[in-house]
Amino acid sequence: MAGLIGSAIEDLDTPALLLDKSAADRNIRRMADFFRGRKCQLRPHFKNHKCTTLARHQLEAGSAVGITCAKLGEAEVLADAGISDVLIANQVVGPAKAQRLISLASRLEKLRVAVDHIDQAVAISEAAKAAGVSIGILVEVDIGMGRCGVPPGEAALKLARRIVELAGVRFDGLQAYEGHLVDIPDMEERRCRTIEAIQQAIETRDLIEDAGIKVPIISSGSTSTYSITSEIDGVNEIQAGTYPTMDWMYRRLTPEFELSLSVLARVISRPKAEVAVLDVGFKGLGHEFGPPKIKGLLDEEIATALAEEHCIVQNSPDWKSGEAVELIPSHACTTCNLYRQIHVHEQGRLVDVWPIEASGRLS
Ligand SMILES: Cc1ncc(COP(=O)(O)O)c(C=O)c1O
Repeated sequence: MAGLIGSAIEDLDTPALLLDKSAADRNIRRMADFFRGRKCQLRPHFKNHKCTTLARHQLEAGSAVGITCAKLGEAEVLADAGISDVLIANQVVGPAKAQRLISLASRLEKLRVAVDHIDQAVAISEAAKAAGVSIGILVEVDIGMGRCGVPPGEAALKLARRIVELAGVRFDGLQAYEGHLVDIPDMEERRCRTIEAIQQAIETRDLIEDAGIKVPIISSGSTSTYSITSEIDGVNEIQAGTYPTMDWMYRRLTPEFELSLSVLARVISRPKAEVAVLDVGFKGLGHEFGPPKIKGLLDEEIATALAEEHCIVQNSPDWKSGEAVELIPSHACTTCNLYRQIHVHEQGRLVDVWPIEASGRLS
């Protein structure tokens, strides 16, 4: 791979995952600058790129207290990279995982997990007590997303009361992710509904504190709500994920961040004058929010459709067979999960290749 450094990106073998380094650097700096000097701090979500080099850049940019991740396997990769403060923003359940969680805790300065049932907390407590480690717990509150989480209010208080009685775990506060609101196109509506949703977490915090239990953390937020949620008094950690790479879905919502991620593909067939077929399909492109768009032609009427290994482009530009094309995925996070490495470029030349250590880490 070292021999390829300096090559023009269009000469890389395809499909290949690309990162425009300058654009990613600007995104990371912009978010770090936003949080500089604020009470609310940034805890970037690793699920975006799963690449420890990028996670390190996010920490080095300042204003980040640590890293959020979705899976225990991602947290293990972060620990291997020497990152010492990690939140697993998810429930960690099952006997094999309890043991892994405990050995992970002994390698990190600070480890927290989300919990939404007392049985999860008891299992972690028993394993932690036996191993002599301490694990922080955030009670996840469902503020409308309808995924994990206890209802706000009494249910969260009841769970918090039981957690503070357990050995080997610390009740560190609440997690309340407004995931059902992050794709509201209108910023004003997004703002009003986010404030309303997060208020449920604030009221839950007040209820728990009135019962004499300290709630040091409320962790929430995303790439499209960071500027709203971080302004809400009481929220002190923001788990924004996609902002370093972006994708075309998030770019419509947060135009202040640039598209730095693309998938380099090649024209392998021109079956009709207006049709081009590229050598990447949904095995190489996260497409949960729609098919990919063509870099530089995002607003053009060019329809793309994915098959397993093909991308069919209607109203194709005048591409030749063999020509390299950059595609912007609708979902960066699932795209990065499909690749083992990311080709880093500046001004059209390859400058580095970074491993995506946590790609495929599902457990
Ligand atoms: C728990 C949690 N926190 C935060 C986020 C925000 O990530 P992003 O900024 O990529 O939307 C997500 C996204 O899935 C999430 O699941």
